[in-house]
Amino acid sequence: MKANAPIGIFDSGIGGLTVLKAVIRRMPEEDVIYFGDTAHVPYGSKSGATVTRYSLEVARFLAARGVKALVVACNTSSALALDAVARAIDVPVLGVILPGANAAAAATRNGHVGIIGTEATIASGAYAAALRARRPGVRVESLACPLFVPLVEEGWWGHPATLLAARHYLAGLRRTDIDTLILGCTHYPLLKGVVRRVMGPSVRLIDSADAVARETESLLENLELRRRQGRGRQKFFVSDDPKRFSRLARRLLGLRSGTAELHAFD
Ligand code: DGL
Repeated sequence: MKANAPIGIFDSGIGGLTVLKAVIRRMPEEDVIYFGDTAHVPYGSKSGATVTRYSLEVARFLAARGVKALVVACNTSSALALDAVARAIDVPVLGVILPGANAAAAATRNGHVGIIGTEATIASGAYAAALRARRPGVRVESLACPLFVPLVEEGWWGHPATLLAARHYLAGLRRTDIDTLILGCTHYPLLKGVVRRVMGPSVRLIDSADAVARETESLLENLELRRRQGRGRQKFFVSDDPKRFSRLARRLLGLRSGTAELHAFD
């Protein structure tokens, strides 16, 4: 494996771009190949077997393009398919759940933490288990917010309908005394403004993007695979019509041009 090889990052759609952004910020010299599995989004309402099948297809595609590490920038896939992905390819694999749980365990003062995520992530109990392992005695409130991913994929990041959905979903959490809330889906950082508005300024919002970027950097450093020079480039693939993804990706990353390439799975 060469230090010049790209880092692979994938998600069901645009959510993982929040992780990509943190990776570029931290390691601007690195090339990145991003895959948005837009033919199959959302992952969060599907079974473990289906999410694993989709994740393996994407992971194998990225491994075949020679990535030196793979970041599973999707909580659903990290919760349900991380081990299968790590076994299937010969590349180091990182997920997003542990870094997020560790950041929340360190941030909470009163030991009462909320987690919002997709139905599959919440049902897996992966965050609650990771939090308890890191901080025994922590109290956890878990909540699925299934409409958030379609709203983000629609580009309605600050739309009144999104605020309405957030008010509805988060009403119960607001009545608790959680002081920390994990945004347990990589799409949700795009709704930070809306979630903050509903939860108020005293609840700390945790997303794992920075922690994952840090972990990726130290992994590459340990393996002596950090690229030290040059300016990294990003390449984007999607499994369905690139137009919508490309428009949202440009908006999210502040780019003036660029289009994702289509790679459809059979
Ligand atoms: N962004 C993903 C996650 O972190 C996937 C959401 C979905 O496709 O349902 O869970």
